[in-house]
Amino acid sequence: PVLILLGPPGAGKGTQARMLEEKFGLVQLSTGDLLRAAVAAGTEAGKRAKTVMEAGELVSDDIVIAILRDRMAQPDCDKGVILDGFPRTAVQAEALDALLAETGSRIDAAISLEVDDAAMVARVAGRYTCAGCGEGYHDDFKQPTQAGSCDKCGSTDFNRRADDTAETVASRLEAYHASTAPLISHYREQGALLGVNAMGEIDDIAAKMAVIVKEAT
Ligand code: AP5
Ligand code: ZN
Repeated sequence: PVLILLGPPGAGKGTQARMLEEKFGLVQLSTGDLLRAAVAAGTEAGKRAKTVMEAGELVSDDIVIAILRDRMAQPDCDKGVILDGFPRTAVQAEALDALLAETGSRIDAAISLEVDDAAMVARVAGRYTCAGCGEGYHDDFKQPTQAGSCDKCGSTDFNRRADDTAETVASRLEAYHASTAPLISHYREQGALLGVNAMGEIDDIAAKMAVIVKEAT
């Protein structure tokens, strides 16, 4: 199966994608994570992406599409994928349709996480992740059970993203409304769109998502 998660920064795409990955044995593909890995590795694409990401703008379609295409070609993706943060523009959506057509597959569902913009700044600004396993946490909404130690792997090392400042989140929200939100009607026209109210508790949203995914796949 191929699932798309749509939603502004902080909507919970990463959080929900990781839970679906565990529950359904699908592979989470986050273009944000892939780009951050490219930046950390200092690749040519990473060098071009770094300043754009720090400004909260969208990385160019050619870079993102190339990175996604390479990742989708790896054998583990045969199990099915959850696309987290891709596509983000009309050009990317078309490239995805073309890529899937090559292998005779198609999108099973595009799930739109519906949230209030105002709450997103607080969600993103309080966020941090485990350096050991990537599990996501939040200063107010999701702390480790044992303070300072990851629930999943026990690591005591955590990271905060360079683009998680209030100022950058505002530009990321702007980019979402200008370029990505229009994809909602694109997928509605394809009959693939499913909307989920994503303003509640993480586990309640995960339960709703599980039902949707079971029905769609
Ligand atoms: P990316 O990494 O995709 O970031 P984003 O879209 O801004 O999304 P986030 O990761 O910030 O939010 P999320 O929805 O995953 O929320 P999360 O689950 O973490 O992209 C980063 C940058 O890379 C972009 O700005 C762009 O430059 C570039 N890029 C990436 N893809 C691209 C593409 N396709 N084209 C061009 N450029 C691209 O949750 C947030 C926090 O809230 C967490 O702390 C979590 O614990 C908490 N939380 C989650 N759900 C809830 C809830 N229900 N209640 C309370 N707290 C919650
Ligand atoms: Zn961990």
